[in-house]
Amino acid sequence: MKDVRIGLLGCGTVGTQVARLLEEQSQDLAARSGARLKVVAIAVRDLEAPRDPAIDRGLLTDDPHRVISQADIVIELIGGVEPARSLILEAFRTGASVVTGNKALLAAHGPELYQAAAAAGVDLYYEAAVAGAVPVVYGLRESLAGDRIMAVLGIVNGTTNYILDEMTTKGMDFGEALAKAQELGYAEADPSADVDGLDAAAKCAILASLAFHTRVALDDVHVHGIRHITADDVATAARSGCVVKLIASAKRRPDGIELHVGPTLVPATHPLASVHGPFNAIVIEAEAADRLMFYGRGAGGAPTASAVLSDVVAAASHRVDGGHAPRELVYADLRVLAPQEGRSRFQVEFTVLDEVGVLTRVTSAFASHGVSIRSVVQGVGEGGLARLTATTHEACQADLEATLAELSSAPFVAEVHHVNRVEES
Ligand code: NDP
Ligand code: HSE
Repeated sequence: MKDVRIGLLGCGTVGTQVARLLEEQSQDLAARSGARLKVVAIAVRDLEAPRDPAIDRGLLTDDPHRVISQADIVIELIGGVEPARSLILEAFRTGASVVTGNKALLAAHGPELYQAAAAAGVDLYYEAAVAGAVPVVYGLRESLAGDRIMAVLGIVNGTTNYILDEMTTKGMDFGEALAKAQELGYAEADPSADVDGLDAAAKCAILASLAFHTRVALDDVHVHGIRHITADDVATAARSGCVVKLIASAKRRPDGIELHVGPTLVPATHPLASVHGPFNAIVIEAEAADRLMFYGRGAGGAPTASAVLSDVVAAASHRVDGGHAPRELVYADLRVLAPQEGRSRFQVEFTVLDEVGVLTRVTSAFASHGVSIRSVVQGVGEGGLARLTATTHEACQADLEATLAELSSAPFVAEVHHVNRVEES
């Protein structure tokens, strides 16, 4: 049996579990890939840092170039853009295949990496980059290659789902729930990537590229995070039969594709409403297959290592039997819609003067911009004020913004509190 040399860049939350499983599962992995997978070196930043006992310290080095020069397959689990990008390009130049979990890098430099892999005739795999253990990249790239994808809608960030779920089910406040998510290893090194929606946006860009055969970059995704979500928002959502989720949405429209990440009210009857804790789930609407749902652990060392190892087995079997990973397919080249062209149902919360005729003037403002109201609920107010929750039918973002601009400056509106998208059940 042939030896395939594995070089590991990074030995943190995910890298440690990859190294452990490569050792513990070595016989099965060899039988499945047709090659003995030998870890030849592991690059870290700090050679003296404490490590899991499963790590053979004799393999550690602080020189990533040494790891690359010895490997047939390089597993990049450092994270971030640099030096990860340069190291991956170096790996391709030496003829190594690369497996990575680095969504930030792929969303920013995916085309460059794909081209370098193709030029070198080697593989680029990244199942772990989206939704950890959940095989959604494979699902889109291979299982659904014969279908036409209409929409991809997902909870793709475990940290924010965990935070929102703790706020919803345990009444925790945002800061407390974030600290717990960090302690449990779900959050990125800089958790702003999670809570500001950038991690989900990077995954949204990757999924949309695969679903719509169009190059999608991080900047194409319209992003809102969850920092501003309060216990009050969660309670308001519950009163309208919804839960608040950070949803990454990529939808095919007649004139292009619409990409959005943001807090969204999900009806309790929607399959994504029952996704709790750090779990991820992605609903794919395909023309022939209809609705599919992928569900599982989207973060954490061992679940993510499972996805990494599936890619390693595929890349190793190509070293033995030939063949290569799917190449980048961007032939459709669809237009990415501007944020203002987006369409959704919306829920708007605002405080108005509790006076005769105010409700009519509010509804007229919506009507004058062509935004149709589905329901309005008026809460009992204090001090001559009333709280209104208006939910619209599907409307264009630009029309909603024009309505809100008019209402914000109207003398009968005290404050517009927040606006959230509402998903159909
Ligand atoms: P960690 O921060 O836990 O680990 C990073 C590792 O990289 C550490 O071992 C660190 O060394 C090493 N490292 C950092 N910079 C360098 C460098 N310049 N040269 C050599 N080694 C370096 O990250 P994670 O394991 O959490 O994440 C790794 C990747 O996997 C990221 O791209 C992340 O987005 C992705 N991912 C993570 C998931 C998770 O649940 N954690 C889930 C899905 C994807 P040292 O140990 O010495 O500090
Ligand atoms: N920080 C990410 C999350 C890890 O919370 O989902 C998985 O990419």
